[in-house]
Amino acid sequence: MSDAATVLERCAALGEVSEEPGLLMRRYGTDAMRRANDLVGGWMFAAGLDVREDTIGNIIGRRGVGRPVVLGSHLDTVRDAGRYDGPLGVLVALAAIERVRDRTLELYGFADEEGLRFGTAYLGSAPVVGRFDPDWLALRDDDGVALADVLPGDPALAARDDLLVYAEVHIEQGPVLERLGEPLGVVTAINGQSHATVAFTGEAGHAGTVPMDMRRDALHAAAEWVLAVEGTGTVGRVDVAPGARNVIPGEVTCTLDVRDPDDATRRAAVARLRAEAEDVAARRRVQLTWTEGTDMAAVALDEYLGGLWGVDVRLPSGAGHDAAMLATVVPATMLFVRCAGGISHNPAESVEEADVAAAIDALERFLRAV
Ligand code: HGY
Ligand code: MN
Ligand code: MN
Repeated sequence: MSDAATVLERCAALGEVSEEPGLLMRRYGTDAMRRANDLVGGWMFAAGLDVREDTIGNIIGRRGVGRPVVLGSHLDTVRDAGRYDGPLGVLVALAAIERVRDRTLELYGFADEEGLRFGTAYLGSAPVVGRFDPDWLALRDDDGVALADVLPGDPALAARDDLLVYAEVHIEQGPVLERLGEPLGVVTAINGQSHATVAFTGEAGHAGTVPMDMRRDALHAAAEWVLAVEGTGTVGRVDVAPGARNVIPGEVTCTLDVRDPDDATRRAAVARLRAEAEDVAARRRVQLTWTEGTDMAAVALDEYLGGLWGVDVRLPSGAGHDAAMLATVVPATMLFVRCAGGISHNPAESVEEADVAAAIDALERFLRAV
């Protein structure tokens, strides 16, 4: 079987490792992530790597002594995910590591990049670069479980100061390569991102008895604000409480995600949306609670390293990646692989075997040149 076919077969096997039957979801610290680490750790071991897990739960394979060139991507997923966002990068790297045996190399399968369970970003890679945020310890999932209660160890002990450079292969998650008719592209920069939780609190009441002009309907306030977000950012989740047909919504909580290659532009957009939320809340006599989340600066990736892939196409990344964290401490580079229709964060996510083969060859070229 070809290396690319093996990568695709392994992505399919990992795609069956989920918290829920019928859809792919692997959140940080769950049994599904435990099973994914065991599966990937077994493949790393079979490739002759020394395998370990660090204190945040990343699975790590290493060959050689001294400071390593580090490869990696994430093994967690969003809800109802595709099977390539994250795992493709880990498994392409493993295939290339099997070919290049005269370098000291490490491969990270990061334990959490998506932040689905605790609303973080880069929970797996942040500790590796010494950026674990102690405030995260108090974060709770939808069941009220605190991050502190599911940590496998002290995140501070996952920090590394001996890494040489970092390279990550990832699906593009956008339509550019497909439109160019190109299988691969070197990433020039990773957009910055801002997250916030935006809650509107009105007054729950009987849907049949409260006159319209006396209502403080939290969902109408949120709906007006969500429309103002259009063209600037994304509201991916809206929780309505108490959530009954015959009850006027008393509290509505929205997530906000804003991205931009320019940090000042992004932060100005968030400020504008916060002012808009305050205005809507005042006019509708509801209370606004705005909770800032991640603020991740845009990151330029290393041009010299980008030249070592032997790939001419260059493009920026709208999506965040663990490379954005590693780039804060070492020179980092990324290679995108074309994905059908640019579809991602969706079970329809797919790649061509020939493009995966090209990515393994490019990473092999990179490892022999770096
Ligand atoms: O949100 C992102 O850009 C990444 O998929 N976590
Ligand atoms: Mn990803
Ligand atoms: Mn993703």
